[in-house]
Amino acid sequence: MNINIAIDGPSGAGKSTISQKLAQRLGYIYIDTGAMYRAVGLYALNQGRDTKRADEVVPLLPAITVEISPATDGQQVFLNGENVTDKIRTPEASIAASDVSAIPEVRAKLLSLQRETAAKNNVIMDGRDIGTQILPNAQVKIFLTADVEDRARRRLEQLTLQGVNTTFDDVLKDMQYRDKQDSSREAAPLACAPDALAVDTTGNTFEQSVEQIYAVIAEKLDNLQKIHNYKPHWFFKFAKGLLKGFFKLVFRYKVIGAENIPQDEVVIVCANHNSLLDPPFLGANLPDNIGVMAKEELFRIWGFGKLIRKLGAFPIRRGQHDIAAVRTALQVLKAGKSLIIFPEGGRFKSGTEVKGKNGAAMIAVRARVKILPMGIIGTFKPFRKMRLNVGKPIDLSEYYGKKPETSDYNEITANLLRVIGELKELRIEN
Ligand code: DC
Repeated sequence: MNINIAIDGPSGAGKSTISQKLAQRLGYIYIDTGAMYRAVGLYALNQGRDTKRADEVVPLLPAITVEISPATDGQQVFLNGENVTDKIRTPEASIAASDVSAIPEVRAKLLSLQRETAAKNNVIMDGRDIGTQILPNAQVKIFLTADVEDRARRRLEQLTLQGVNTTFDDVLKDMQYRDKQDSSREAAPLACAPDALAVDTTGNTFEQSVEQIYAVIAEKLDNLQKIHNYKPHWFFKFAKGLLKGFFKLVFRYKVIGAENIPQDEVVIVCANHNSLLDPPFLGANLPDNIGVMAKEELFRIWGFGKLIRKLGAFPIRRGQHDIAAVRTALQVLKAGKSLIIFPEGGRFKSGTEVKGKNGAAMIAVRARVKILPMGIIGTFKPFRKMRLNVGKPIDLSEYYGKKPETSDYNEITANLLRVIGELKELRIEN
């Protein structure tokens, strides 16, 4: 599996210097997609075209070949075989790049080059639309921002070092122009992906920003490793196969929305619950790294406790303080296992009004994981049809690092129950 890290943000937020440093540290390839737009912009300028006009730029595209080659002192950029690494850094080339990047045909031309490189390598790719359009499945997404004045100051330093003669006011003006154009254009505007971590580097030193982002990446990679190296007990594999066969044969079920089940991250699976068969039914249809909380009494039944433990269950004491259960759940998630939690807080017949318990929401926020809602449709009556309807993961990152109020948790839970309610209402077609 290749690791793709997407770093997006406006001009001058420090994307390229930070990405380059991170790539060196991780041994990944660094790809600066802005350089590709700059090369196209430079070509159009050299041909005397108006870089804002699609009808003048698009006809040039077949004659343009852009190549990049990573090198120890940064990436080299080639335009039709000529090394243009320095030439693309002038203020004129910056504006031309921003202009041509708003043309959909230009973006389409560069998209495949960007995706192909990412598919073959571990990459850190920086740009404006990497997390949203180019690599929507990147395992790590960062959105870097900083005050426009801070960014202009840094860019001026960079340009002065490169021997470009300009002033702070000019750099600031260029930056404001590009910010506006890059964010307001129709084709793939600069935007923070909903699952990206926003990092504001205003006032930070370069080293501080690198450390902050490296820590995020390291944690993510560590989690990925745990998920992919996870080896379930042989008995779990055996029982899962058996259960799946049994459910398929007896309940003729289908899974709808299986593509919503994330393979690269742990989640909290939340579903409606009205049968004892719900937990094994979910377990049989989810990745192997899955655990479920079960009441402690079950573990005291001789033999049965051992069995369900091997099947991924772990005990919680019900009715007492939930803190121990929350702690156990956090440990399970940290070890790379997803969790099934029934937010209704017990088994209920369909149609019962349930308020729901906030445990799933609290654990999801504390562990910074998404909630994967599911609706179990059908009644586990032999040979009647059943469906497992998987919804889109619910992202709670707006609450991370804050101390949400009980009212926030009530709201998350109410919304979750509403989503589950919709997922279980789907009509069973043939
Ligand atoms: O990152 P940079 O300043 O070198 O980018 C130059 C221009 O290219 C920028 O104004 C916007 C555009 N760009 C883009 O539209 N999409 C990307 N993925 C990268 C850059």
